[in-house]
Amino acid sequence: MLSSALLENPLRQGLSSGRVAPPCSLVIYGASGDLTARKLVPALFELYEKHLLPVSFNLIGISRSAISDEDFRKKLKEALLQSKPQVSDAIWNSFSQNFHYHAGGYDDFKVYQALAVKLNELDEKNGTVGNRIFYLSTPPNVFEEIISNLGAAGLAKEEKGFSRVVIEKPFGHDLDSAKELNQKVREVFKENQIYRIDHYLGKETVQNFLVMRFANSIFEPIWDRRYVDHIQITASEDLGVGTRAGYYESSGILRDMFQNHLFQVMCLMAMEPPVIFEANAIRDEKLKILQAIRPFDEQTVRTHAIRGQYGPGFLAGQKVPGYRQEAGVDPQSITPTYAAIKIFLDTWRWHGVPFFLRSAKRLPKRTTEAAIQFKEPPNLLFKNNMTELSPNVLIIRIQPDEGITLKFETKVPGMSMEARTVNMDFRYGTSFAEGTSEAYERLLLDCMLGDATLFIRGDETEAAWAALMPVLNLWETTQPEGTFPNYEAGSWGPAEADEMMEKPWRKWRKL
Ligand SMILES: NC(=O)c1ccc[n+]([C@@H]2O[C@H](COP(=O)([O-])OP(=O)(O)OC[C@H]3O[C@@H](n4cnc5c(N)ncnc54)[C@H](OP(=O)(O)O)[C@@H]3O)[C@@H](O)[C@H]2O)c1
Repeated sequence: MLSSALLENPLRQGLSSGRVAPPCSLVIYGASGDLTARKLVPALFELYEKHLLPVSFNLIGISRSAISDEDFRKKLKEALLQSKPQVSDAIWNSFSQNFHYHAGGYDDFKVYQALAVKLNELDEKNGTVGNRIFYLSTPPNVFEEIISNLGAAGLAKEEKGFSRVVIEKPFGHDLDSAKELNQKVREVFKENQIYRIDHYLGKETVQNFLVMRFANSIFEPIWDRRYVDHIQITASEDLGVGTRAGYYESSGILRDMFQNHLFQVMCLMAMEPPVIFEANAIRDEKLKILQAIRPFDEQTVRTHAIRGQYGPGFLAGQKVPGYRQEAGVDPQSITPTYAAIKIFLDTWRWHGVPFFLRSAKRLPKRTTEAAIQFKEPPNLLFKNNMTELSPNVLIIRIQPDEGITLKFETKVPGMSMEARTVNMDFRYGTSFAEGTSEAYERLLLDCMLGDATLFIRGDETEAAWAALMPVLNLWETTQPEGTFPNYEAGSWGPAEADEMMEKPWRKWRKL
């Protein structure tokens, strides 16, 4: 029974935010894993603390490991305490009172039948009114199995309440497997029940692209081929492959970062304003960008796509091994850990404007940003008086130090007519008292609320794979030109990536 004091307390119900989730049960498949402990449950806890989690809420973890309800809760609590050591036993107990665990194989139909019974019992007991979310947090090889069993057990039906499925990345390994997975999911769930996650879209700064572009009048008029010289999107990591060699050897940087995260950021930078702020209207516009990527052929893959792999080097003064020396990596591996791609979008707005996308492991620092470099002024009034002027650049920092910087030229004080580049800075950290939310917090809440704006639609994921396939195909069937490794750990990547910029005023940003 819910306490009436809780129900009557508007703050507890998060009414002040207007976005409190409805009563529901969240079933996590693969609940014994890293994502559940490190991201999902801490995100749920944040929602709970902000009074955005419904009072009637059940969490049911399912995976093969034989652990008790008690041990499941203990493991989750220990993981939460890593980031929130101040959480008391009383708060934890209140938060986790409706957490359960069920051990079972993903192929065992009896587990799904038992789940259906359990969910009905919990609906009766806790008032969760038949609303269910099934979160697939397993490796992708069991996604199809879980989905078809959910369908067979009648759990996808929306008789009493909603039934939604959240699918973790990677969504497919290539275009064919993504199409097949889409087909299998759609045999069981309707598109509006499917939530394909790209956690980048849950990041505050990524969402701010939409606000910045479409809630300000100063940016949109200059956001096109007339004013923009080129756009750079970078996601660099200082870490190597770590313990994920098994996954990484079969995926590489293109699947891991481009098909999803970098393409999504590019879509938000490039898309037309949607007619309404609604999931399908936004996703329609993103889809048009993915469909407008000029198709690669063998020649343009060679000139517009540069691959690399790190060798041994130094990071923060520490010697680190090369990719081929990492545990679990084939010593002859040609898996790319670096990619830089030049993309043209065949749209009126972006005709002739290159989008440079790069991502890599073992670069000097971890940072993700999108930078718009503007064209030089048409009349170079100062060309005889001044040394080189730098182009205006608008930088949107996605992580870390989330914010926006505008670089522009200004006169240096004094008698000479000298210009220098200065920054106008906005930092989330210093401009707002509120901290930025973790991506999973936002995405879990949106899913509970039925808002799919920040999730990928099936046609988007297929369009992204279709655009990338010529690069993947050529890279997987040919040896790299030159030798691998071709960049030292701790450097900014192979020199060939600079050559793709073509023009002297276009350079990869030093971050
Ligand atoms: N961890 C992250 O930060 C992160 C970030 C973005 C996306 N993801 C995605 O989220 C999903 C879950 O990530 P994770 O890091 O939690 O994965 P994980 O720890 O490798 O796997 C989650 C659980 O799935 C089960 N499992 C592992 N290998 C399996 C196999 N071959 N067949 C069937 N079940 C298997 C295991 O549970 P049992 O053995 O108990 O069944 C494991 O505890 C993955 O799709 C991953 O790509 C993760």
